[in-house]
Amino acid sequence: TEDEKREAFRERIDKGEKIEPKDWMPEQYKQQLIRMMSQHAHSEIVGMLPEGNWITRAPSLKRKIVLLAKVQDEAGHGMYLYSATETLGVRRQDLIEDYLYGTAKYSSIFNYPTLTFADICVIGWLVDGAAIVNQTMLAKSSYGPYSRANIRICKEESFHKKQGYEMLAKMADGTSDQQKMAQDAVNRWWWPTLMMFGPHDEDSPNSAELIKWGVKTKTNDELRQDFVDRTVMEAKAIGVTLPDPELKYNEETGHWEFGEIPWDEFWSVIKGNGPMNRERMKTRRKAYEEGEWVREAAMEYARKRKLKDEK
Ligand code: ACO
Repeated sequence: TEDEKREAFRERIDKGEKIEPKDWMPEQYKQQLIRMMSQHAHSEIVGMLPEGNWITRAPSLKRKIVLLAKVQDEAGHGMYLYSATETLGVRRQDLIEDYLYGTAKYSSIFNYPTLTFADICVIGWLVDGAAIVNQTMLAKSSYGPYSRANIRICKEESFHKKQGYEMLAKMADGTSDQQKMAQDAVNRWWWPTLMMFGPHDEDSPNSAELIKWGVKTKTNDELRQDFVDRTVMEAKAIGVTLPDPELKYNEETGHWEFGEIPWDEFWSVIKGNGPMNRERMKTRRKAYEEGEWVREAAMEYARKRKLKDEK
């Protein structure tokens, strides 16, 4: 019966077993995974835009090669995650169209502009650093394909973080103009990075269910705290200041306390009113529409090959 299946599923989750595509799973588990994994995939793809913006203007050949490789990695993560989502019986094209013309979300962080090359350094250090904290947790997720996707993604993200941190360290050790540029970028990206982890646990409608099913193994606030604790020392080591006067070490808890996140800004960005939302969506829709002939040609080629193979 349905109840027995649910019970057996629960036991598998509690034992820490991975759920695989052909296994029985509750419909709501499947729907939550589709929502979250596709949102993750869309974020990787749209995440290419703020950095892609600087490829032609990277300050040296070395920086350009690294940035090109990193942006390509993000495309790979997106494709990999779409494939993982397709194991749940949905079509990639429908997911993409729900994001371009419907209501599917992507990460708030990619709705901010990259004004100088220091933003590229800070994205590597803070944004990819935050992604690693979130995705190392997701690598332990109960759904096999999503867990394995995140293991691979984290390996590449840790290279992304290192290149960003190394660049920022150099810039923060440079001329006074370079130091100002580095600090200005840290000031602008710090709060939006903390917002990447999602709303406070009490305002997070999905967390309880995701944790019950082992999709998430830590809450939004736990991960955000983990990220702040790691980042304070990294900032000190390279001489940049995190723009939060309330940042204070609590001896008793062993954690860094931090100020109030500007939540109005977060909700406004996820509703589509951030500084770059319209621009990002316009660019993605244009790319999708202009790529239609490529998709058509690929499908036609596949169809003809199949016919030939059948003969
Ligand atoms: N940006 C955009 N939307 C967000 C964000 C964010 N930073 N945080 C939360 N939301 C949305 C949720 O998707 C949810 O909306 P929905 O129900 O319409 O889908 C709503 O706000 C409420 O949030 P929660 O209930 O807390 O949602 P959830 O439990 O799924 O937690 C989180 C959100 C942390 C983003 C989670 O879904 C997650 O870990 N996703 C996978 C990782 C990911 O998407 N990373 C993308 C950026 S990293 C990178 O690419 C570099």
